[in-house]
Amino acid sequence: MIILKSDSELAAMRRAGRVVAQAHQLVQEHLRPGITTEMLDRLVEEFILSQNAVPAFKGYNGYPASICASVNEVVVHGIPNDLPLEEGWILSVDIGAFVDGFCGDSAWTYPIGKIDPEVQRLLDVTEESLFKGIEKAVIGNRLSDISHQIQTVVESNGFSVVRDFVGHGIGRRMHESPQIPNFGSPGRGPRLKAGMTLAIEPMVNMGSYHVRILPDNWTTVTVDGSWSAHFEHTIAVTADGPEILTEL
Ligand code: MF3
Ligand code: CO
Repeated sequence: MIILKSDSELAAMRRAGRVVAQAHQLVQEHLRPGITTEMLDRLVEEFILSQNAVPAFKGYNGYPASICASVNEVVVHGIPNDLPLEEGWILSVDIGAFVDGFCGDSAWTYPIGKIDPEVQRLLDVTEESLFKGIEKAVIGNRLSDISHQIQTVVESNGFSVVRDFVGHGIGRRMHESPQIPNFGSPGRGPRLKAGMTLAIEPMVNMGSYHVRILPDNWTTVTVDGSWSAHFEHTIAVTADGPEILTEL
């Protein structure tokens, strides 16, 4: 069952999305070679708490931190650590927060200093796939129109879409129905309605789409070692079209 949000619930979703967007801005202000992902985690956690918000990831199925920090070939769910980031790397930062009982969830992949042009193309294409997917989140479309659009953008640019993780409905819980794959045929699944709130999150690899989970049970890496990007926004389907909630 897909939970539709009322206007007052959407207002709370906007407040949650805003805190997440501000947390991403804070990350961008501090990102440079030499900083560690543990330092970023602490900054974000302190910021979220200062906003009378609650980090959504910490303690979720035992996850130990407030952000996911996924470097280079790490696809998602990297655990913050004390390794200094190096110029030329990429870092995917995923942040979630609850405000007034509602959740915002957003991820972005950032370059550390100057990066290889082909890696920059990975970031550009993944971001484009997210925004082109969001454009399909309009009343009357079907859910898989979003999925298909993301896959089309990614594969026409020679990259691959991760199959093992999907986007999701979001609201009072971080993960609600429906699941939103980043691949598939168009015209399938439920019709989109006003009041649906969705976390759309393409994960895109430079090589093959196969991934595996490391023995820590979280860190998810590409099997072939190719680098990977992750862009995610929480959006609402409205009569005026898709509204991005995790953007300032
Ligand atoms: N954006 C991710 C998701 O939607 C974040 C979950 S990380 C976890 O699943 F640690 F909370 F699991
Ligand atoms: Co998510």
